[in-house]
Amino acid sequence: MAVMKGQALVFVLAMAFAGFTGCVVSYDRPPARKNISILQPKEFSSTSPQQVHISVVGPDKMRISWITQSSAPTVVDYGTSPKAYTNTVTGTSSSYRYLLYESGQIHDTVIGPLNPNTAYYYRCSSDSTREFSFKTPPAQLPIKFAVIGDLGQTEWTSSTLRHIGQLNYDMLLVPGDLAYADMVQQLWDSFGRLVEPLASQRPWMVTQGNHEIEKIPVIHKAPFMAYNARWRMPFEESGSTSNLYYSFNVAGVHVIMLGSYTDFDPISDQFKWLQADLGKIDRGKTPWTIAIVHAPWYNTNCAHQGEPESDLMKKYMEKLLYKARVDIVFAGHVHAYERFTRVYDEKADNCAPTYITIGDGGNREGLANKYMDPKPETSVFREASFGYGELEVVNATDAVWTWHRNDDDVSVASDTVWFRSLSSDPACKL
Ligand SMILES: *[C@@H]1O[C@H](CO)[C@@H](O)[C@H](O)[C@H]1NC(C)=O
Ligand SMILES: *[C@@H]1O[C@H](CO)[C@@H](O)[C@H](O)[C@H]1NC(C)=O
Ligand SMILES: [Fe+2]
Repeated sequence: MAVMKGQALVFVLAMAFAGFTGCVVSYDRPPARKNISILQPKEFSSTSPQQVHISVVGPDKMRISWITQSSAPTVVDYGTSPKAYTNTVTGTSSSYRYLLYESGQIHDTVIGPLNPNTAYYYRCSSDSTREFSFKTPPAQLPIKFAVIGDLGQTEWTSSTLRHIGQLNYDMLLVPGDLAYADMVQQLWDSFGRLVEPLASQRPWMVTQGNHEIEKIPVIHKAPFMAYNARWRMPFEESGSTSNLYYSFNVAGVHVIMLGSYTDFDPISDQFKWLQADLGKIDRGKTPWTIAIVHAPWYNTNCAHQGEPESDLMKKYMEKLLYKARVDIVFAGHVHAYERFTRVYDEKADNCAPTYITIGDGGNREGLANKYMDPKPETSVFREASFGYGELEVVNATDAVWTWHRNDDDVSVASDTVWFRSLSSDPACKL
């Protein structure tokens, strides 16, 4: 009886909430799929390199990251033909403890200088049984990015990864929520193995989401321990003092990665760093600027409304991005796809960024399929389906964005839009 009463109360509250926000279910989409967990292959020894992934460092270097279960040399051999390694670089390694879990040896080696748009072959920890290869990004436009948020490790994640594997992209951008380990550290290892086939081939540039925080009051106070140890990004190179926010240039694009779950108020280091970073953009070199956060600043989904990481960060930082004529702001967090028009301070504005939520990579929590009704005019396209985005920056003035829906395991181009760079629009002169 008490249980029935409880359920009735929850129902009444849910109805009241739905009525209050005016939420409608717009699509009846496929449910969440099974978790997957990738074990270490049987043939691996304790010194086999695993979880290999790469990220760009400056204009012509690449960071190679990998893990060995026990101690192995932190060395990368590489060259431009298979099995013919003409260069050898030694890096540094680390490990961390999280409650009872002890990580393997996390290796980190920066190699280069490398030529642009060139294939390299490499091995890690002198292990010849596993040869990897990657392609460096181009030095000039065009460049093709893949964009996926809230990846997780389910069968939907696999389907998304399979689709972007066929894309021939130059670089992947991740707006946070990677492994969904949520304190179970073995899931970070599983995630590393799941993404290795792609992440060892092209630079994966990531920022963090709430699932990376992994803080537990009293017993584990340090946030982002696993994330920072395993997914080190080139922050020092952009004058940042934190792995949680940084920027870099690639081809003709300045990419800014922001941290939604670290301080962002006007006296914070992140705010001051962002201000300085935006001030240094050279439009001659990088006519395009894109920014990436985890918690969206514009969102008409009923999920994740009213969170300070969205609302306060927007309040403090929106004007900086607007004044700097940032072209596109990508976010994750909401497990759906949504594209806005160019918007500033809630109003359509031709010189403002386009906001895109792409939190539909495939995580285990499923889709967020309730939307505010009626739809605000600034929201152009919204749909709760799993999928990923593709941004091809063609030249200094034109870029094309395509959102691909994973429909019945087939990738279907479902929203396509051409962008004109704000730096080329005389009406938006800085
Ligand atoms: C996936 O794993 C999480 C815990 O890691 C669990 O809470 C969830 O119920 C699982 N989902 C499915 C569909 O098995
Ligand atoms: C840039 O690309 C667009 C789309 O392909 C094309 O129409 C335009 O002419 C190009 N601009 C220049 C300067 O090449
Ligand atoms: Fe999130």
